[in-house]
Formats: sequence, structure tokens, C-alpha cells
Amino acid sequence: MKLAIGNDHVAIEMKKEIQAFLEAKGIEVINVGTDEPGRFDYPISGYKVGKLVASGEVDGGVLICGTGVGISLAANKVDGVRCCVCSEPYSAKLSKMHNNSNIIAFGARVVGVELAKMIVEEWLNAEFEGGRHQRRVDMIMEIQDTQELEAAK
Ligand code: RB5
Repeated sequence: MKLAIGNDHVAIEMKKEIQAFLEAKGIEVINVGTDEPGRFDYPISGYKVGKLVASGEVDGGVLICGTGVGISLAANKVDGVRCCVCSEPYSAKLSKMHNNSNIIAFGARVVGVELAKMIVEEWLNAEFEGGRHQRRVDMIMEIQDTQELEAAK
């Protein structure tokens, strides 16, 4: 498995911890985030991880900023991305099982590193259930692709 990881200046240490956590599981991790001191605009990492995921170059992505919000907003502007901000493992798991999330995001100012590892673990281990959830995910992608939703007409 290959994942991309990205972060801003708030989340450098947590990014390193999560990258090491993933690599210890034998997962290849492409780091596109910042490791340098100084402010770093989170949309850059959100965009880069989003593109890697949407192109299929990686199997999924992890994004971390202060809250997880800004970086997920940026990633979700890339076509094909379904990035979910989750501050606990249950939502992370369900974001894959029901929403087929392909990027998980969280905030280094919101969760501690051990909770972040649990979030990532649950997300990694979950599988999309398809079925009725596929129809709803298809609707989300219809909104992205057409800016319309037949079912709402
Ligand atoms: C940076 O100060 C902060 O705005 C960023 O890390 C993130 O929380 C944005 O959503």
C-alpha cells in the first residue's frame, strides 16, 4: 500500500509521528508536506495529496493542519477526492465504510498523537460497504461533476 501525507507548519511533528507509524506497518508514504520552520499555507499540501489520490498514484491520503478543516477543504476541491475531517476513530471508520473517503484529515491542535494513530488505524482497516452507500456517494460525485443533482429535482 502507498499513501500520501501532507501538513502545514502547525502539524510538522504530528506528521512525522504518523508517517513513522504508517511506515512501521510496511506502508510506503510519500511526504508532500512541509518539514521546515516557518509558516506554510495548508492548501498546498491539500492540493498535492488530493492530486496524488485522485490520479491513483497512491491508495489514499492523510492530511494534518491545525484543525484539519482548511487542508480538507483544499483537498476536496480536487475532482475525485472525498476527504473527511475526523477527530475520533468512529467517524474515521464510518467515513470509509459509508462515504468511501479516500483521504482522512485531522487537527494537530485538536487531537493528541495517540488518538491520531487510532483515527488512522480505524480508517486504514475499514472497507467501503457499497450497496446503498454507493448510491449516495454517486450522488456526491454527481454534484461535483455536474453541479446538479437529479434526485433533488
Ligand atoms: C494555521 O494557523 C491554521 O489556520 C491551519 O493550521 C488550519 O487550522 C486551518 O484550517
